[in-house]
Amino acid sequence: MGRSHEYLFEDAKNLCIDPRVIIDLGCIKSNHPKAPGSYGWSTLAWAKLCPMAIIHTVDIDPRAVRVSKGVLGARLSKGELSRIRFHKEDAVRFLKRFSQEIDILYFDGPGEQGSREGLHAAASKSLQLSSVILFDDCDLPEGKDGRRPVIADALSLGFVTVKDTGRQVLMIRESL
Ligand SMILES: C[S@@+](CC[C@H](N)C(=O)[O-])C[C@H]1O[C@@H](n2cnc3c(N)ncnc32)[C@H](O)[C@@H]1O
Repeated sequence: MGRSHEYLFEDAKNLCIDPRVIIDLGCIKSNHPKAPGSYGWSTLAWAKLCPMAIIHTVDIDPRAVRVSKGVLGARLSKGELSRIRFHKEDAVRFLKRFSQEIDILYFDGPGEQGSREGLHAAASKSLQLSSVILFDDCDLPEGKDGRRPVIADALSLGFVTVKDTGRQVLMIRESL
């Protein structure tokens, strides 16, 4: 499947109905949106789409955390900003210690191995029957045709693909 600029943030939100805990792996690292006129700054997208959710945005790079704070500080109201938790931390470490139930788990940072380890860590305690997973950059070299190993891992954990744009893959638990 070719690369599509359709984003699935809204689809993920609609599958959850009322998401309360969102994990956003990979903070906003650039002052310039990836795709002007559409979503690209993931944390901003989640904050605007899901007004009741606490959003944990995680990045191993302190500069990305700083940029993200700047971008969001300039674009969100005080109330919206109070729902964002910034973590300068490796995504796998974060997911290993995070024990709350996750409504939406979004992967846009940790790379293939980190995503695989992070997914298994989350699956061991934080992912529930209603959890939604959104993978980004599935068409980068290691993710040709959406067949990244982490997608196979998610399938083996009982997730199924509900939408695949080539670039993003949205998954839910099969039993739903
Ligand atoms: C594509 S950018 C994220 C873009 C952001 N989600 C957005 O929409 O603007 C990927 C980010 O992942 C971060 N990253 C890479 N490996 C990581 C890891 N193991 N844990 C956490 N963050 C990581 C990088 O520092 C980079 O800032």
